[in-house]
Amino acid sequence: MTLSLQTDRLIIRRFSQADIDDIIEFTAHPSVSRETTNIPRKDCAKIVEYVDTQNGYSLFEADKCVDLAVELKVAGKAIGLLSLVSNGEHQGEIGWGFGIEYRGQGLATEAVRCLITYVFENCSYHRIFSGTIFTNTRSWALMERLGMRKEAHFVKAHVPAEPKGERIDTVRYAILAEEWVGRTPINHAVSFNR
Ligand SMILES: CC(C)(COP(=O)(O)OP(=O)(O)OC[C@H]1O[C@@H](n2cnc3c(N)ncnc32)[C@H](O)[C@@H]1OP(=O)(O)O)[C@@H](O)C(=O)NCCC(=O)NCCS
Repeated sequence: MTLSLQTDRLIIRRFSQADIDDIIEFTAHPSVSRETTNIPRKDCAKIVEYVDTQNGYSLFEADKCVDLAVELKVAGKAIGLLSLVSNGEHQGEIGWGFGIEYRGQGLATEAVRCLITYVFENCSYHRIFSGTIFTNTRSWALMERLGMRKEAHFVKAHVPAEPKGERIDTVRYAILAEEWVGRTPINHAVSFNR
C-alpha cells in the first residue's frame, strides 16, 4: 500500500530504491546510526536489501519495524525517517532519526505530529508510545514538545555498547488518542493520500 502524508514542508512516504544516496547521507552522523538500529549504514547492498524488506511489509504491519521516509519538499530528498512498530492492538511505538543538518528547524516535530495524527484519525490507533535513553535529551524533548505524557523513568535500565560498564537511565512517554485531540495545528497535517 502506498502512503503519502503531507505537511507544509514535508512528505512522509514509503522508502524506494531511489532514496539510497539520501539514506547514506542522513545516516552518516553517528547519532542516527547509534540510535536508529533498524537501518544499515554506508553499505549500499545492505540498504538496497533493507528497502526491499521494508516494501515487503504492509503499512504498519504488526510486530515489524515499519520505516517511513521523511522527504523535504523544497530539496526533493529524504532527510530522515520515522518508524512505527505496531502491536496489532491499535498501539504503536514510534521512533525517528534525522540528518544532522536538518535538526533544530522543527522538522522532526512537524513529521511526527503528522504521523501520529494520521494513525489516530485514520488507523484507529488509541495509544502511541516512545522511549529513549535519558541522555538523549533531543529525543525526549521532542516527545515533550509533542505533548506526550511521561510514563516512566527507569533507573540504570540500559547497558550501552559504549562506554563499557555503564548503566544508564531510560524514559518512556505515551499519548492516547483522546489526549491528542485539539493538539495538532492543522498546518502540520494538510493532506493524507493513500
Ligand atoms: C531526536 C531528533 C529527531 C530531534 O531533532 P530536533 O531537531 O531536536 O527536533 P525538531 O526538528 O522538532 O526541532 C526542534 C527545534 O527547532 C526549533 N525550530 C526552528 N525553526 C522552527 C520552526 N519553523 N518550527 C518549529 N520549530 C522550529 C525549535 O525551537 C526547536 O529548538 P529548541 O530545541 O532549541 O527549542 C534528532 O535529534 C535526531 O535525529 N537524533 C538522532 C536520532 C535519535 O536520537 N533518535 C531517537 C532514538 S530513541
